[in-house]
Amino acid sequence: MVTRMSRRALNRRAVLLGGVAGAAFVALPVRHSVLASSATVLRAAPAEAQVLPSGEPATRVWAYDGQVPGPPVRVRRGDIVRVRLDNGLPQPTTIHWHGVRIDNRMDGVPGLTQEPVPPGETFEYAFAVPDAGTFWYHPHSRSWEQQARGLYGLLIVEEDEPPRFDQDVALVLDDWRIDEAGQIHEASFGHMMDWSHAGRLGNLLTTNGLDSVDVPVRAGERVRLRLCNTSNARTLRIRIDDHTPMVIALDGQPVAPFAPAGGEIVLASGQRTDLSVDMILNPGARAAIAETSGREAVAAATLTYHDDAVAREQPLDAPIALAPNPLPDSIDIAGALDVDLVMQGGAMGGLREAQHKGETKDIRTLVESGLVWALNGVAGRPETPLFDVPRGRPVRIRMVNETAWPHAMHLHGHHFRELAGPNKSVYGPWRDTLLVDRRSERTVVLLADNPGDWLLHCHMLEHHAAGMVTWFRVGA
Ligand code: C2O
Ligand code: CU
Repeated sequence: MVTRMSRRALNRRAVLLGGVAGAAFVALPVRHSVLASSATVLRAAPAEAQVLPSGEPATRVWAYDGQVPGPPVRVRRGDIVRVRLDNGLPQPTTIHWHGVRIDNRMDGVPGLTQEPVPPGETFEYAFAVPDAGTFWYHPHSRSWEQQARGLYGLLIVEEDEPPRFDQDVALVLDDWRIDEAGQIHEASFGHMMDWSHAGRLGNLLTTNGLDSVDVPVRAGERVRLRLCNTSNARTLRIRIDDHTPMVIALDGQPVAPFAPAGGEIVLASGQRTDLSVDMILNPGARAAIAETSGREAVAAATLTYHDDAVAREQPLDAPIALAPNPLPDSIDIAGALDVDLVMQGGAMGGLREAQHKGETKDIRTLVESGLVWALNGVAGRPETPLFDVPRGRPVRIRMVNETAWPHAMHLHGHHFRELAGPNKSVYGPWRDTLLVDRRSERTVVLLADNPGDWLLHCHMLEHHAAGMVTWFRVGA
């Protein structure tokens, strides 16, 4: 059990950029990010948010509808999402609906699927959602800045048959870099040191836009916990003290329930996990949901047991398995197109030159234009696609990370499965983002069945901006 004082100590990430003066501990309001209604207009505009503990200054952010995270968009599977984006920002923006097997025109990639929306203008997003699960939305225009300033929100797609949990709680986790005045550290936007290393790592972890949240529970409950990592670059490591979380979905797609190794959930930028967690402690108990990637553990949230209300006396048995989404049971690997994707560059990567806009450029010239990463020898979005296939073609991609850094490889418009085991014949879970460790190799297979032009990039947003991006084309 964590006391108030130590809980507060746990709350704050070791401050890297000069401290924000400590304030007395104040109990924070409970705020679940999952609401019953669904946004229909998202206005992106400057706002203020209390991301630091109360008593400390409010932070100037950019937000959807003045909220960080933006209001959740919540629909049923098969519904049409209709959202008008109003751009109240001083720069162009778009919305990308991360993880949705979406109509290509609604994918929100400027210069590939739509024109960026200028300040003062609007764009109507309307699309069907084929899969139930936990998805999210964020800008795809200067996302390394716009997302870091607070633009992101959840897209929750409910199952046809609602699974029987006592509570459905979403925790949106973000890693902020805050300066001494309690404001977003603007001076380091575009910093090549970050761009060529791990990306922009922060010094403040927020949960649902707050320094920490309490999650009220009752003994005996079974809680669905949706975790989403909206950090620019930080890979989060989550554990729940005194509880045994079961993973029931990854990146929105159901999996056969399993207990993660060592009880630790690893979430790279952009990834989601749905957990089933049984409340096995006694009334009045408290347990931290801790994030442990930094030097000290940080309490992202605290399970706060009601003092006397008990949901049930008998523990529940078998975990709830979510119904699968309409994805194929298997993919014809033998008929797959084979593609290599070699990740290159970054600090200690030894990249000497790369293609950019059709020309070979040496590393100095590349760095001058903010490029330090490459895929298959090309820095930045290439003119020609990585592959161009007719609709329905299976594609096997061997991802070879030659760099000294891990990368969170994200594919638009499709989910893929990792092929593991000695013969690369064992299917892993469906995902939309895969963390590929430094100097390692992973193979994935997808069924390229969603027509259009789709991005494939590192979701560490500085790596994307600094060149680690390509695209592929699926015919109609
Ligand atoms: Cu979550 Cu291409 O992005
Ligand atoms: Cu990367």
